[in-house]
Amino acid sequence: MTVLPIRKYGDPVLRCPTERVEVIDDELQKLIDDMVDTMYAAPGVGLAANQIGVSRRLMVIDLSVGKRPGELHVCINPEIVATEGEVREEEGCLSVPDFVEEIKRPERVKLRYRDRHGNDREMWGQGLMARAMCHETDHLNGTLYVDHLRGLKRDRIVKKISKLAKSGMW
Ligand code: NI
Repeated sequence: MTVLPIRKYGDPVLRCPTERVEVIDDELQKLIDDMVDTMYAAPGVGLAANQIGVSRRLMVIDLSVGKRPGELHVCINPEIVATEGEVREEEGCLSVPDFVEEIKRPERVKLRYRDRHGNDREMWGQGLMARAMCHETDHLNGTLYVDHLRGLKRDRIVKKISKLAKSGMW
């Protein structure tokens, strides 16, 4: 079990679009296992590879945080191919700890990806699953959830974070 440090807001790796995964080999399986361990330890419901400093198009989601078997989704080269509806809910991020904000997201999302065994898959997610799919896919494109905030709300978070960073608490 390897729990890796999670990169925080301000780390350039979070701003860089990730590279597609071309080969599913032992090294990738190890990376996946480390990502799952890190997500469960955090604890979180989703993690993108660049959040542990690896700029590859790979994410894991488990809404049960390891509590219920069969709920772990390992998504290689994920793409959102369809969305329906719209809903505003609170959202947070392991890379922006201790903040939550209301963010508008689609209510239903269809994700196309490859699983860790190399099978092409498509999956509809709803509610929190749809939100996690959007949030983690955003990460892989170099986007953070705070980027969806506008004006004062966004300024407020950025200001608080730079204050924390200046006092060495970020
Ligand atoms: Ni996040």
